[in-house]
Formats: sequence, C-alpha cells, structure tokens
Amino acid sequence: MNQVIALLKNHRSIRKYTQEPISDEILINIIEAAGSAATSNFIQAYSVIRVIDKQNRKKLAELTGNQTWVEESPLFLVFCADLKRAENACLFENKEMASGYTEQFLIATVDVALAAENALVAAESMGLGGVFIGGIRNNPDAVCELLKIPNQVYPVFGMCLGYPDEKPEQKPRLPAQMILHEDYYHENQTDLETYNKTCSKYYQNRSSGSRDDTWTRQISDMVSKPMRPHMKAFLKKKGFDTK
Ligand SMILES: Cc1cc2nc3c(=O)[nH]c(=O)nc-3n(C[C@H](O)[C@H](O)[C@H](O)COP(=O)(O)O)c2cc1C
Repeated sequence: MNQVIALLKNHRSIRKYTQEPISDEILINIIEAAGSAATSNFIQAYSVIRVIDKQNRKKLAELTGNQTWVEESPLFLVFCADLKRAENACLFENKEMASGYTEQFLIATVDVALAAENALVAAESMGLGGVFIGGIRNNPDAVCELLKIPNQVYPVFGMCLGYPDEKPEQKPRLPAQMILHEDYYHENQTDLETYNKTCSKYYQNRSSGSRDDTWTRQISDMVSKPMRPHMKAFLKKKGFDTK
C-alpha cells in the first residue's frame, strides 16, 4: 500500500461542505490533473464549465432533481464530452469532420470520465471532497440552454467540490475476486449472497438499523425501470451517436 492507493481506497462521496472557498490555485491544479489523464489518440475531448452564477446554480440544483449540494457546494463543475474542438481542428486544416459516429461518442465520453475521476482524486488529495452529479442528464436540453453548450458538446455529469463537512461511512465495494476474471469471462463468478450481506450491514449501520437494503434489491430496482429515455434523442440532436 502506498499513499496513492490509500487515497483511492479512502474515497467516499461528499455532499456537505464547509463555507471555505476553493482557491484558484487549487482549481487550476484540479483542472491540470484532469487534463493529465490518458486520452484516446490525444484528442482530449472534454471541456469543464465552472458555474459561478448563483441563479444558474439554483436552476441547476432544480434541474438535477433538487440536489441541494449543487447549489451549495463551493465549486460546481460541469464535465462535457467535447468534439467541437476536434471539429475546429478540421476547420483549421480545411477538412470536414466525419461526425456522428458512435465510436466518437464513446471516445469523448470515456475521455471526460477519465479526466473527471482524475479531478476528483486530485481534489481528494488536497483535502477536498466531492460528488459526481449524473442528475445533470435529467434535463440535458435545459442544461445546454442555460450553459450555452453547442452541438458536438454534451454535459456528461457535474461535480460538486468543497472542504468536507461530513465523514460518511465508506460504501463497501465488490471484492476484487468478483471483478477480476482469469483467462476468460466466468458467468458464475458472482457471489451476490455474500456481497448482499456486506451491503445490508452497511445500510443498517448508516441508518441506525432503519434501512434494510441489499445490493441486488437496489440495482434490480434501478435497471428494471427505463433510464433517462430522452438521452437517445438528445444525443442525436447534439450531433452524437447517429451512425
Ligand atoms: C457518473 C456518476 C453520477 C453520479 N450522480 C450522482 C448524483 O446525481 N447525485 C449524487 O448524490 N450522487 C451521484 N453519484 C455518486 C454515487 O451515488 C456514488 O459514487 C456511489 O453511490 C458510491 O458511493 P461513494 O462514492 O460514496 O463510494 C454519481 C456517481 C457517478 C460515478
């Protein structure tokens, strides 16, 4: 175990922050750490919008499903998959971008996710805490209008950051042997029973005994319902994922 691994294994999402502001120096370090992530073919297909405007913060908190931390966190960043810069590179070279490929959509989405995780880890290494906000995709059209996000760019998730004013218990993750398969995919490698017991204990502790939940119950509830069915049409409208 070294310090980096210890930091990674100490992660928990933080949704309550002190009033202490985040300095510009720290912000730039976070963004530079994000931009240091590996990137598909050096494309760097991401942009990050820092939302300062109080009214817009309030509106974004509503649009993300009334997540108060979106309005209250000292720093709120919106991570966008961005192929607009690549399109501009084509214009610069008098070429036309062959846009709309699913592969480009994947490249940009993977790129921004890698950068964002780097950002959160960098922030955590400086004593900050944060949480991803996938709720930004609840109303992606309204978010794009509010933040003037053009075609070939889409908001993938937000991120609240600040100095922690809570220390939640860590959520127990899948054990390594349930994630790691040897040589080939093993369908029967899922000891859900044991993992359910671990998660159940976590929820019992966190709720002083009032929440009786398991991982399979939570996840099966989630994936047995339609999930943001507007996303397909939204992505097509923004110029992503059409071929
Ligand atoms: C892409 C993504 C989107 C997320 N969206 C939200 C969100 O909208 N609101 C929220 O409170 N947490 C959100 N989370 C945080 C997860 O709920 C959290 O990471 C997960 O439950 C594990 O808990 P932990 O991060 O404390 O270990 C999101 C996490 C990811 C990676």
